[in-house]
Amino acid sequence: MTISWKQLNNLTTFFGDSFYIIDLAQFTRNYQNFLNAFQIIYPKSQIAYSYKTNYTPRLCQLAEEMKGYAEVVSGMEYELALRIGVAPERIIFNGPYKQKADFEQALLNNSIVNIDSAYEVQYICELSSQYPQKMIRVGIRCNFVIGTESPSRFGFDINNATFQTSINVLRNLPNCKIIGIHCHFLPPERSAEGYRKIAQQMINLALTKFAKDALEFIDLGGGFFSAMPTELQQQFSHSIPTFSEYGYAIASEFKRAFPDNKGPELILEPGISLTADTTKFVTKIIDIKTQGEHQIALAAASRYDIKPTLSDRNLPITVFPAPDSASQQGVFDIVGSTCMENDFLHHNYSGKLGVNDYIVFDNVGAYTNVLRPPFINFASPVLSIDAQENIEIIRRRETLNDIFSTYTF
Ligand SMILES: Cc1ncc(COP(=O)(O)O)c(C=O)c1O
Repeated sequence: MTISWKQLNNLTTFFGDSFYIIDLAQFTRNYQNFLNAFQIIYPKSQIAYSYKTNYTPRLCQLAEEMKGYAEVVSGMEYELALRIGVAPERIIFNGPYKQKADFEQALLNNSIVNIDSAYEVQYICELSSQYPQKMIRVGIRCNFVIGTESPSRFGFDINNATFQTSINVLRNLPNCKIIGIHCHFLPPERSAEGYRKIAQQMINLALTKFAKDALEFIDLGGGFFSAMPTELQQQFSHSIPTFSEYGYAIASEFKRAFPDNKGPELILEPGISLTADTTKFVTKIIDIKTQGEHQIALAAASRYDIKPTLSDRNLPITVFPAPDSASQQGVFDIVGSTCMENDFLHHNYSGKLGVNDYIVFDNVGAYTNVLRPPFINFASPVLSIDAQENIEIIRRRETLNDIFSTYTF
Protein backbone atom coordinates (compact mmCIF):
# COMPACT_ATOMS: atom_id res chain seq x y z
CA MET A 1 0.00 0.00 0.00
CA THR A 2 1.37 3.44 -0.90
CA ILE A 3 0.45 6.05 1.64
CA SER A 4 -0.49 9.69 0.98
CA TRP A 5 -1.71 12.50 3.22
CA LYS A 6 -5.07 12.46 1.45
CA GLN A 7 -5.54 8.78 2.06
CA LEU A 8 -4.61 9.07 5.73
CA ASN A 9 -6.93 12.04 6.10
CA ASN A 10 -9.80 10.02 4.60
CA LEU A 11 -9.10 7.23 7.05
CA THR A 12 -9.23 9.62 10.01
CA THR A 13 -12.77 10.66 9.12
CA PHE A 14 -13.86 7.08 9.75
CA PHE A 15 -11.39 5.87 12.35
CA GLY A 16 -10.26 8.92 14.34
CA ASP A 17 -6.98 10.81 14.49
CA SER A 18 -4.77 7.83 15.20
CA PHE A 19 -4.77 4.16 14.23
CA TYR A 20 -2.52 1.16 13.61
CA ILE A 21 -2.12 -0.34 10.15
CA ILE A 22 -1.11 -3.97 10.25
CA ASP A 23 0.30 -5.82 7.25
CA LEU A 24 -0.98 -9.38 7.60
CA ALA A 25 0.96 -10.58 4.56
CA GLN A 26 4.19 -9.40 6.20
CA PHE A 27 3.43 -11.53 9.25
CA THR A 28 2.98 -14.56 6.99
CA ARG A 29 6.24 -13.80 5.18
CA ASN A 30 8.12 -13.37 8.44
CA TYR A 31 6.74 -16.61 9.77
CA GLN A 32 7.69 -18.58 6.68
CA ASN A 33 11.14 -17.00 6.34
CA PHE A 34 11.91 -17.58 10.01
CA LEU A 35 10.78 -21.20 9.93
CA ASN A 36 12.56 -21.86 6.66
CA ALA A 37 15.86 -20.56 8.06
CA PHE A 38 15.77 -23.41 10.60
CA GLN A 39 14.04 -26.16 8.62
CA ILE A 40 16.47 -26.12 5.70
CA ILE A 41 19.14 -27.22 8.18
CA TYR A 42 17.15 -29.14 10.79
CA PRO A 43 13.80 -30.24 9.32
CA LYS A 44 12.30 -31.06 12.72
CA SER A 45 12.07 -27.34 13.59
CA GLN A 46 8.77 -25.72 14.51
CA ILE A 47 7.43 -22.33 15.58
CA ALA A 48 5.38 -21.71 18.70
CA TYR A 49 4.05 -18.19 18.18
CA SER A 50 4.50 -16.09 21.34
CA TYR A 51 0.98 -14.82 22.00
CA LYS A 52 1.97 -12.20 24.55
CA THR A 53 4.05 -10.30 21.99
CA ASN A 54 0.93 -9.53 20.00
CA TYR A 55 -2.21 -11.57 20.56
CA THR A 56 -4.28 -9.72 18.00
CA PRO A 57 -6.59 -12.61 17.05
CA ARG A 58 -5.99 -12.18 13.30
CA LEU A 59 -2.27 -12.82 13.86
CA CYS A 60 -2.94 -15.82 16.09
CA GLN A 61 -5.24 -17.19 13.40
CA LEU A 62 -2.52 -16.82 10.77
CA ALA A 63 -0.04 -18.66 13.00
CA GLU A 64 -2.64 -21.38 13.45
CA GLU A 65 -3.25 -21.60 9.67
CA MET A 66 0.49 -22.10 9.23
CA LYS A 67 0.28 -24.99 11.69
CA GLY A 68 2.48 -23.55 14.40
CA TYR A 69 2.07 -24.12 18.09
CA ALA A 70 0.53 -21.38 20.23
CA GLU A 71 2.86 -20.33 23.05
CA VAL A 72 0.84 -18.95 25.96
CA VAL A 73 1.80 -17.79 29.44
CA SER A 74 -1.49 -17.46 31.30
CA GLY A 75 -4.95 -18.89 31.64
CA MET A 76 -6.23 -15.90 29.68
CA GLU A 77 -3.94 -16.62 26.75
CA TYR A 78 -4.73 -20.34 26.98
CA GLU A 79 -8.45 -19.57 26.65
CA LEU A 80 -7.70 -17.31 23.70
CA ALA A 81 -5.77 -20.08 21.93
CA LEU A 82 -8.74 -22.43 22.36
CA ARG A 83 -11.05 -19.73 21.02
CA ILE A 84 -8.76 -19.26 18.00
CA GLY A 85 -9.32 -22.97 17.40
CA VAL A 86 -5.86 -24.26 18.30
CA ALA A 87 -5.96 -27.96 19.17
CA PRO A 88 -5.08 -28.29 22.89
CA GLU A 89 -2.10 -30.53 22.10
CA ARG A 90 -0.69 -27.69 19.95
CA ILE A 91 -0.68 -25.23 22.87
CA ILE A 92 2.52 -24.73 24.85
CA PHE A 93 1.79 -23.35 28.30
CA ASN A 94 4.77 -21.47 29.81
CA GLY A 95 5.14 -18.79 32.42
CA PRO A 96 5.95 -18.44 36.10
CA TYR A 97 2.40 -18.26 37.46
CA LYS A 98 -0.05 -20.90 36.41
CA GLN A 99 -3.25 -21.04 38.40
CA LYS A 100 -4.00 -24.54 39.54
CA ALA A 101 -7.23 -24.87 37.58
CA ASP A 102 -5.53 -23.65 34.38
CA PHE A 103 -2.58 -25.95 34.97
CA GLU A 104 -4.89 -28.90 35.45
CA GLN A 105 -7.00 -28.10 32.42
CA ALA A 106 -3.91 -27.82 30.21
CA LEU A 107 -2.36 -31.08 31.38
CA LEU A 108 -5.61 -33.03 31.18
CA ASN A 109 -6.11 -31.60 27.66
CA ASN A 110 -2.66 -32.91 26.60
CA SER A 111 -1.26 -29.43 26.08
CA ILE A 112 2.49 -29.06 26.59
CA VAL A 113 3.11 -27.54 30.00
CA ASN A 114 6.63 -26.33 30.69
CA ILE A 115 7.01 -26.05 34.44
CA ASP A 116 8.91 -23.09 35.84
CA SER A 117 9.18 -23.85 39.53
CA ALA A 118 8.85 -26.50 42.23
CA TYR A 119 5.29 -25.51 43.20
CA GLU A 120 4.21 -26.98 39.87
CA VAL A 121 5.87 -30.29 40.72
CA GLN A 122 3.58 -30.37 43.72
CA TYR A 123 0.56 -29.77 41.43
CA ILE A 124 1.69 -32.67 39.27
CA CYS A 125 1.99 -35.01 42.26
CA GLU A 126 -1.56 -34.16 43.27
CA LEU A 127 -2.86 -34.65 39.72
CA SER A 128 -0.98 -37.88 39.35
CA SER A 129 -2.81 -39.47 42.28
CA GLN A 130 -6.13 -37.87 41.34
CA TYR A 131 -5.95 -39.20 37.77
CA PRO A 132 -3.95 -42.44 37.96
CA GLN A 133 -5.03 -43.49 34.45
CA LYS A 134 -3.84 -40.26 32.87
CA MET A 135 -0.28 -40.03 31.49
CA ILE A 136 1.02 -36.58 32.48
CA ARG A 137 3.52 -35.21 29.97
CA VAL A 138 5.59 -32.22 31.04
CA GLY A 139 8.50 -30.04 29.98
CA ILE A 140 10.97 -28.35 32.31
CA ARG A 141 12.22 -24.80 31.92
CA CYS A 142 15.96 -24.77 32.54
CA ASN A 143 18.02 -21.85 33.72
CA PHE A 144 21.77 -21.40 33.45
CA VAL A 145 24.17 -18.52 32.95
CA ILE A 146 25.06 -18.00 29.35
CA GLY A 147 27.16 -14.85 29.34
CA THR A 148 28.01 -11.96 31.54
CA GLU A 149 24.42 -10.93 32.14
CA SER A 150 22.70 -11.25 35.50
CA PRO A 151 20.96 -14.59 35.93
CA SER A 152 17.39 -15.02 34.75
CA ARG A 153 14.70 -15.45 37.40
CA PHE A 154 12.81 -18.06 35.39
CA GLY A 155 12.91 -21.82 35.36
CA PHE A 156 14.97 -24.28 37.40
CA ASP A 157 18.58 -23.37 38.04
CA ILE A 158 20.32 -26.48 36.72
CA ASN A 159 23.01 -26.12 39.38
CA ASN A 160 20.55 -25.97 42.26
CA ALA A 161 19.53 -29.11 44.16
CA THR A 162 15.83 -28.39 43.54
CA PHE A 163 16.37 -29.12 39.85
CA GLN A 164 17.56 -32.69 40.43
CA THR A 165 15.05 -33.31 43.22
CA SER A 166 12.18 -32.17 40.99
CA ILE A 167 13.31 -34.37 38.11
CA ASN A 168 13.54 -37.35 40.47
CA VAL A 169 10.06 -36.72 41.89
CA LEU A 170 8.56 -36.54 38.40
CA ARG A 171 10.40 -39.65 37.18
CA ASN A 172 9.21 -41.61 40.19
CA LEU A 173 5.55 -40.91 39.52
CA PRO A 174 3.95 -43.92 37.80
CA ASN A 175 2.05 -41.80 35.28
CA CYS A 176 4.35 -38.91 34.47
CA LYS A 177 6.84 -38.45 31.66
CA ILE A 178 9.31 -35.63 31.06
CA ILE A 179 8.92 -34.98 27.35
CA GLY A 180 10.92 -31.82 26.80
CA ILE A 181 13.14 -29.06 28.07
CA HIS A 182 12.60 -25.36 27.61
CA CYS A 183 14.50 -22.13 28.09
CA HIS A 184 14.17 -18.48 27.07
CA PHE A 185 17.13 -16.13 27.39
CA LEU A 186 18.24 -12.96 25.72
CA PRO A 187 21.91 -13.61 25.06
CA PRO A 188 24.23 -10.58 24.97
CA GLU A 189 23.25 -8.43 21.97
CA ARG A 190 20.75 -11.17 21.04
CA SER A 191 23.57 -12.43 18.84
CA ALA A 192 23.37 -15.56 16.72
CA GLU A 193 26.53 -16.81 18.44
CA GLY A 194 24.87 -16.28 21.83
CA TYR A 195 21.96 -18.45 20.69
CA ARG A 196 24.42 -21.07 19.42
CA LYS A 197 25.79 -21.35 22.97
CA ILE A 198 22.29 -21.71 24.38
CA ALA A 199 21.55 -24.44 21.84
CA GLN A 200 24.76 -26.26 22.79
CA GLN A 201 23.90 -26.13 26.50
CA MET A 202 20.37 -27.40 25.93
CA ILE A 203 21.54 -30.21 23.63
CA ASN A 204 24.12 -31.15 26.20
CA LEU A 205 21.44 -31.30 28.90
CA ALA A 206 19.24 -33.44 26.66
CA LEU A 207 22.09 -35.88 26.02
CA THR A 208 23.27 -36.09 29.62
CA LYS A 209 20.79 -35.27 32.42
CA PHE A 210 17.78 -36.14 30.29
CA ALA A 211 19.27 -38.97 28.21
CA LYS A 212 16.95 -41.51 29.87
CA ASP A 213 13.86 -39.47 29.10
CA ALA A 214 14.21 -39.65 25.28
CA LEU A 215 12.97 -36.08 24.93
CA GLU A 216 10.41 -35.23 22.27
CA PHE A 217 11.38 -31.56 22.09
CA ILE A 218 13.94 -28.94 22.99
CA ASP A 219 12.34 -25.51 23.12
CA LEU A 220 14.71 -22.53 22.90
CA GLY A 221 12.19 -19.73 23.48
CA GLY A 222 12.21 -16.42 21.62
CA GLY A 223 13.89 -13.04 21.81
CA PHE A 224 15.21 -12.90 18.25
CA PHE A 225 15.54 -9.56 16.51
CA SER A 226 13.20 -8.62 13.71
CA ALA A 227 14.36 -7.13 10.45
CA MET A 228 14.53 -3.36 10.90
CA PRO A 229 15.08 -0.23 8.85
CA THR A 230 18.61 1.25 8.79
CA GLU A 231 17.50 4.24 10.88
CA LEU A 232 16.56 1.89 13.73
CA GLN A 233 19.55 -0.43 13.27
CA GLN A 234 21.85 2.56 13.69
CA GLN A 235 20.58 3.05 17.23
CA PHE A 236 22.15 -0.28 18.22
CA SER A 237 25.87 -0.53 18.88
CA HIS A 238 26.08 -3.96 17.26
CA SER A 239 24.85 -5.67 14.13
CA ILE A 240 21.34 -7.14 13.93
CA PRO A 241 21.38 -10.83 12.99
CA THR A 242 19.19 -12.01 10.13
CA PHE A 243 16.80 -14.96 10.41
CA SER A 244 19.29 -16.99 8.33
CA GLU A 245 22.08 -16.24 10.77
CA TYR A 246 19.94 -17.34 13.72
CA GLY A 247 18.82 -20.44 11.83
CA TYR A 248 22.35 -21.36 10.83
CA ALA A 249 23.80 -20.90 14.34
CA ILE A 250 21.11 -22.90 16.13
CA ALA A 251 19.94 -25.50 13.65
CA SER A 252 23.52 -26.52 12.70
CA GLU A 253 24.09 -27.53 16.32
CA PHE A 254 20.95 -29.65 16.24
CA LYS A 255 21.90 -31.24 12.94
CA ARG A 256 25.32 -32.10 14.29
CA ALA A 257 23.92 -33.61 17.49
CA PHE A 258 21.01 -35.44 15.82
CA PRO A 259 22.12 -36.12 12.24
CA ASP A 260 19.60 -38.88 11.50
CA ASN A 261 16.57 -36.62 11.83
CA LYS A 262 15.30 -38.76 14.70
CA GLY A 263 16.27 -36.23 17.35
CA PRO A 264 13.87 -34.07 19.35
CA GLU A 265 11.78 -31.39 17.71
CA LEU A 266 13.48 -27.99 17.88
CA ILE A 267 10.87 -25.45 18.98
CA LEU A 268 11.38 -21.70 18.66
CA GLU A 269 9.03 -19.16 20.25
CA PRO A 270 9.48 -16.00 18.17
CA GLY A 271 7.40 -12.94 18.96
CA ILE A 272 9.18 -9.68 18.11
CA SER A 273 10.85 -11.20 15.07
CA LEU A 274 7.50 -12.09 13.48
CA THR A 275 5.57 -8.99 14.41
CA ALA A 276 7.67 -5.85 14.91
CA ASP A 277 7.87 -4.85 11.25
CA THR A 278 4.26 -5.75 10.44
CA THR A 279 2.69 -2.64 11.92
CA LYS A 280 2.71 1.12 11.49
CA PHE A 281 1.04 3.69 13.70
CA VAL A 282 -0.52 6.80 12.20
CA THR A 283 -1.23 9.93 14.19
CA LYS A 284 -2.06 13.55 13.50
CA ILE A 285 -0.20 16.67 14.64
CA ILE A 286 -2.69 18.80 16.56
CA ASP A 287 -0.59 21.73 17.71
CA ILE A 288 2.90 23.17 17.57
CA LYS A 289 4.30 25.57 20.15
CA THR A 290 7.59 26.86 21.45
CA GLN A 291 8.48 26.36 25.11
CA GLY A 292 11.78 28.08 25.93
CA GLU A 293 14.36 26.49 23.64
CA HIS A 294 12.09 23.62 22.61
CA GLN A 295 9.62 23.21 19.79
CA ILE A 296 6.83 20.97 20.91
CA ALA A 297 4.56 19.13 18.48
CA LEU A 298 1.47 17.63 20.09
CA ALA A 299 0.30 14.33 18.58
CA ALA A 300 -3.17 12.81 18.88
CA ALA A 301 -1.66 9.75 20.58
CA SER A 302 0.71 8.87 23.39
CA ARG A 303 3.95 6.99 23.94
CA TYR A 304 1.81 4.18 25.33
CA ASP A 305 0.44 3.57 21.83
CA ILE A 306 3.82 2.98 20.25
CA LYS A 307 6.23 2.21 23.11
CA PRO A 308 4.29 0.95 26.13
CA THR A 309 7.52 -0.75 27.23
CA LEU A 310 8.60 2.88 27.83
CA SER A 311 11.71 2.48 25.68
CA ASP A 312 13.43 5.78 24.91
CA ARG A 313 14.49 4.68 21.46
CA ASN A 314 13.22 6.82 18.56
CA LEU A 315 11.22 4.71 16.13
CA PRO A 316 11.59 5.46 12.41
CA ILE A 317 9.03 8.06 11.33
CA THR A 318 7.73 9.46 8.07
CA VAL A 319 5.92 12.79 7.93
CA PHE A 320 3.06 13.33 5.49
CA PRO A 321 2.66 17.12 5.26
CA ALA A 322 -0.84 18.57 4.94
CA PRO A 323 -1.36 20.39 1.63
CA ASP A 324 -2.23 23.59 3.49
CA SER A 325 0.34 23.02 6.22
CA ALA A 326 2.16 26.08 7.47
CA SER A 327 4.95 23.74 8.38
CA GLN A 328 8.12 25.01 9.96
CA GLN A 329 11.65 23.70 9.79
CA GLY A 330 13.00 22.86 13.21
CA VAL A 331 13.93 20.33 15.83
CA PHE A 332 10.78 19.05 17.49
CA ASP A 333 9.90 16.95 20.46
CA ILE A 334 6.78 15.08 19.44
CA VAL A 335 4.74 14.75 22.61
CA GLY A 336 1.66 12.81 23.55
CA SER A 337 -1.90 13.40 24.54
CA THR A 338 -1.71 12.18 28.13
CA CYS A 339 -1.01 14.64 30.91
CA MET A 340 2.32 13.05 31.74
CA GLU A 341 5.46 15.21 31.42
CA ASN A 342 7.38 12.21 30.12
CA ASP A 343 4.94 11.43 27.30
CA PHE A 344 7.33 11.69 24.35
CA LEU A 345 6.65 9.82 21.12
CA HIS A 346 9.86 11.05 19.52
CA HIS A 347 12.78 13.18 20.72
CA ASN A 348 14.52 15.76 18.54
CA TYR A 349 12.82 15.20 15.22
CA SER A 350 14.71 17.38 12.80
CA GLY A 351 12.78 18.49 9.70
CA LYS A 352 9.60 20.23 8.68
CA LEU A 353 6.45 19.76 10.71
CA GLY A 354 3.07 21.47 10.79
CA VAL A 355 -0.42 21.21 12.23
CA ASN A 356 -2.57 18.59 10.45
CA ASP A 357 0.47 16.70 9.20
CA TYR A 358 0.36 12.95 9.72
CA ILE A 359 3.22 11.03 11.25
CA VAL A 360 3.67 7.36 10.57
CA PHE A 361 5.75 5.39 13.07
CA ASP A 362 7.28 2.15 11.83
CA ASN A 363 8.06 -1.11 13.61
CA VAL A 364 5.32 -0.97 16.21
CA GLY A 365 4.04 -4.55 15.90
CA ALA A 366 5.50 -6.02 19.11
CA TYR A 367 4.33 -5.34 22.68
CA THR A 368 2.17 -2.37 21.60
CA ASN A 369 -1.58 -2.67 21.13
CA VAL A 370 -1.69 -5.58 23.61
CA LEU A 371 0.39 -3.83 26.26
CA ARG A 372 -1.06 -0.33 26.02
CA PRO A 373 -2.87 0.53 29.25
CA PRO A 374 -6.49 1.77 29.26
CA PHE A 375 -5.27 5.20 30.29
CA ILE A 376 -6.91 8.60 29.65
CA ASN A 377 -7.77 8.03 25.97
CA PHE A 378 -9.47 5.24 24.09
CA ALA A 379 -7.17 2.75 22.42
CA SER A 380 -6.80 3.31 18.70
CA PRO A 381 -8.28 0.98 16.13
CA VAL A 382 -6.19 -1.55 14.24
CA LEU A 383 -6.74 -1.70 10.48
CA SER A 384 -5.44 -3.88 7.74
CA ILE A 385 -5.32 -2.56 4.18
CA ASP A 386 -4.57 -5.04 1.43
CA ALA A 387 -2.96 -4.48 -1.99
CA GLN A 388 -6.40 -3.63 -3.49
CA GLU A 389 -6.86 -1.07 -0.69
CA ASN A 390 -9.64 -3.06 0.97
CA ILE A 391 -9.84 -2.12 4.61
CA GLU A 392 -10.40 -4.72 7.31
CA ILE A 393 -11.12 -3.53 10.84
CA ILE A 394 -8.96 -5.79 12.97
CA ARG A 395 -9.95 -3.94 16.14
CA ARG A 396 -12.42 -1.08 16.40
CA ARG A 397 -11.80 2.06 18.46
CA GLU A 398 -12.49 1.54 22.16
CA THR A 399 -15.60 2.94 23.81
CA LEU A 400 -16.41 4.03 27.33
CA ASN A 401 -18.13 0.74 27.91
CA ASP A 402 -15.06 -1.27 26.90
CA ILE A 403 -13.12 0.41 29.67
CA PHE A 404 -15.72 0.68 32.40
CA SER A 405 -17.87 -2.43 32.04
CA THR A 406 -15.82 -4.20 34.74
CA TYR A 407 -16.28 -1.41 37.30
CA THR A 408 -19.20 -0.87 39.65
CA PHE A 409 -20.91 2.48 39.22
C1 LIG B 1 9.03 -17.83 27.34
C2 LIG B 1 9.02 -16.81 26.26
N1 LIG B 1 8.95 -17.23 24.98
C3 LIG B 1 8.93 -16.34 23.95
C4 LIG B 1 8.99 -14.98 24.18
C5 LIG B 1 8.94 -14.06 23.00
O1 LIG B 1 10.05 -13.25 22.93
P1 LIG B 1 10.15 -12.10 21.83
O2 LIG B 1 8.85 -11.41 21.74
O3 LIG B 1 11.27 -11.23 22.36
O4 LIG B 1 10.53 -12.79 20.56
C6 LIG B 1 9.08 -14.51 25.50
C7 LIG B 1 9.16 -13.07 25.79
O5 LIG B 1 9.43 -12.60 26.87
C8 LIG B 1 9.10 -15.44 26.57
O6 LIG B 1 9.15 -15.04 27.86
